[in-house]
Amino acid sequence: MKTLLEFKDEVEEALQGAFSGDTLLGEAISAALLSEGKRIRPILVHLVSDALGQRMPVMPAALASEYFHTASLIADDLPCMDNDDFRRDKPSLHKLYGERVALLASYALISEGFLQIEKNGALMRTTHLKEQAFEATTIALASASNSCGIRGAVLGQFYDLERSSSTLLELEEVIYLKTIVLFEGAFILGWLFGGGEFSKLEAVKRLAKHFGMAFQIRDDLLDFGQDKKRESAANFAITLGKEEAFSRLNTEVNAFLGLLKELNLLTPAFKEIGDRLRSLT
Ligand code: IPE
Ligand code: IPE
Ligand code: MG
Repeated sequence: MKTLLEFKDEVEEALQGAFSGDTLLGEAISAALLSEGKRIRPILVHLVSDALGQRMPVMPAALASEYFHTASLIADDLPCMDNDDFRRDKPSLHKLYGERVALLASYALISEGFLQIEKNGALMRTTHLKEQAFEATTIALASASNSCGIRGAVLGQFYDLERSSSTLLELEEVIYLKTIVLFEGAFILGWLFGGGEFSKLEAVKRLAKHFGMAFQIRDDLLDFGQDKKRESAANFAITLGKEEAFSRLNTEVNAFLGLLKELNLLTPAFKEIGDRLRSLT
């Protein structure tokens, strides 16, 4: 079984070879993909598949999950959205390549993500699990469509821009739509192409929700000081108070670990993920 770092290195290598920069658009897509991210979503795709123990190829699906995420970041930073000049401590994509190229890069990445899912389906048809490849691919495409689009990240982005989320319930809804659905997509891709049973997908979604909520609360606790200065920031630690946010973080991590166990996925790498979620450094 590989470590988190080994999976991350493999993802980096696959991303290096994914796009050629023979047009300015290609160059922009490459730059967006290769800027330093944590690669959490593609790592999750690998971890789920690895834990299922069927030794299935899932790199195209892992790339798809990073493409969707990168597309959402490019769009989120645009002047008509959050108008952010920086992303990952570097100039954001529209600052480097202009708004028009950045916008095209964002939606090019979404359609490329779908293509990677199709590729993963074709790969699955060459394995011992070829019988379930067609259904896995169909469910994966529908799931990606739900998490990227008007039922998921796009609606979340819209709510985030167009309404203030003052109650806990509203905040949870926006966070679910804007952030957690893309994690959900990653868990589902890892499960489907890793050879998991279709009948357990609802539990996999619950697993992703606990992970995503823990991830976001941790992120908000880390951003507490900075967000406190900006009135508009949607932040769990501000809405709930720091102490309550800590306790909710613990509850989510415990539920996440409990479900991993139930689904027979509790590998050392996932235990490490649990520890990292709990630590605020
Ligand atoms: C950033 O996601 C956006 C949120 C969901 C809070 P990540 O924290 O995974 O960002 P990168 O990819 O590592 O930059
Ligand atoms: C950006 O969300 C990531 C998306 C889910 C689109 P935010 O606007 O809340 O976070 P940062 O600060 O730009 O990463
Ligand atoms: Mg933003």
